[in-house]
Amino acid sequence: MERLKGLILSGGKGTRLRPITFTSAKQLVPVANRPVLFYGIEAMAAAGIEEIGIIIAPETGDEIRETAGDGSQFGVRITYIVQDAPAGLAHAVLTAEPFLGTDPFVMYLGDNLLQGGITDLVAAFRADAPDALILLTPVPDPEHYGVAELHEGRVVRLQEKPPQPKTDLALVGVYMFTAGIHDAARAIEPSPRGELEITDAIQYLVDAGRRVEPHIVQGWWKDTGRLEDMLEANRLVLDRIERRIDGTLTESACEGRVIIEAGAVLERSTVRGPAIIGAGARLIDAYIGPYTAIGDGCVIQDAEVEHSILLEGSSVRDLGARMESSLLGKDVAIARSLGQPRAYRFLVGDQSEIGIA
Ligand code: TTP
Repeated sequence: MERLKGLILSGGKGTRLRPITFTSAKQLVPVANRPVLFYGIEAMAAAGIEEIGIIIAPETGDEIRETAGDGSQFGVRITYIVQDAPAGLAHAVLTAEPFLGTDPFVMYLGDNLLQGGITDLVAAFRADAPDALILLTPVPDPEHYGVAELHEGRVVRLQEKPPQPKTDLALVGVYMFTAGIHDAARAIEPSPRGELEITDAIQYLVDAGRRVEPHIVQGWWKDTGRLEDMLEANRLVLDRIERRIDGTLTESACEGRVIIEAGAVLERSTVRGPAIIGAGARLIDAYIGPYTAIGDGCVIQDAEVEHSILLEGSSVRDLGARMESSLLGKDVAIARSLGQPRAYRFLVGDQSEIGIA
């Protein structure tokens, strides 16, 4: 088989992760303090893919370019491809056609995480040489996903979010294609939601008698499009970290799987893992509970934080109750205000959510 390229989709609207996605790409939201996008790039590098195209949106593309760079930090070459509008996954494939040429490729949704990586999948694709190979996993709520029907080891039907799913096999956000997908993407019409759907393009291949094979995922898969998914991805990745304490601890304790990055300072604080504390963060009289990722330069003082993701530069001070299941963007400040009258005072952007017990 010719060389295999990689295509990572990091455009899109990210409406379900607002307000974070008003100012930043959702693929850069950190999971265990690393952008979710990096896990996809690393999975490709581990599978021996050297040439990766990354689809970016005009609004958030520059930040993605700056963060992932030319790919040398991962041992790959990255080409950035601007998609002028988020017109669907099959539209993204067409946008990437000049980069992909006639080479077969792995397509990976930039906000997805796959525990087992893609090495096995690439091996299966090379060995069986189908026209397309799709990843599937059983889910309890298939009506929210693209759903596949199989017959004698082949994919026979795909439906996007069917109200009455015929199987519980959801499409995972990783696909392998040969060049025939370009003609399929050109042949289909936009769906009722106005997007060129990749499920329709794959169905077109099936209908044309092409061989589309399923591959059932071993291990977990996570689409991080919503807050709960992001927190769960963070939990799954933190569960695998290895303890490493490089920061400075004064009268403080770290229990279990904990990473304290260099330059972080803990004073009279407890971190109960799995948790990660970023470089230069300061914890003072603080408690950090399991499944928490505290970004670089954050400050937690006289406060308790658990099962949360804090992006760099945020601070939480002097709260009366434990903060949990939260996602804070960059440079967010949360603190008890001591002045009178006793009142909540907010400066909050569009579509933020605040829960007060
Ligand atoms: P989705 O999460 O399905 O779409 P979205 O990013 O627009 O999010 P939301 O539904 O919250 O508004 O997209 C999956 C991945 O593919 C994600 O990483 C964004 C990317 N994508 C593109 O690059 N181009 C596109 O046209 C679309 C629809 C998605």
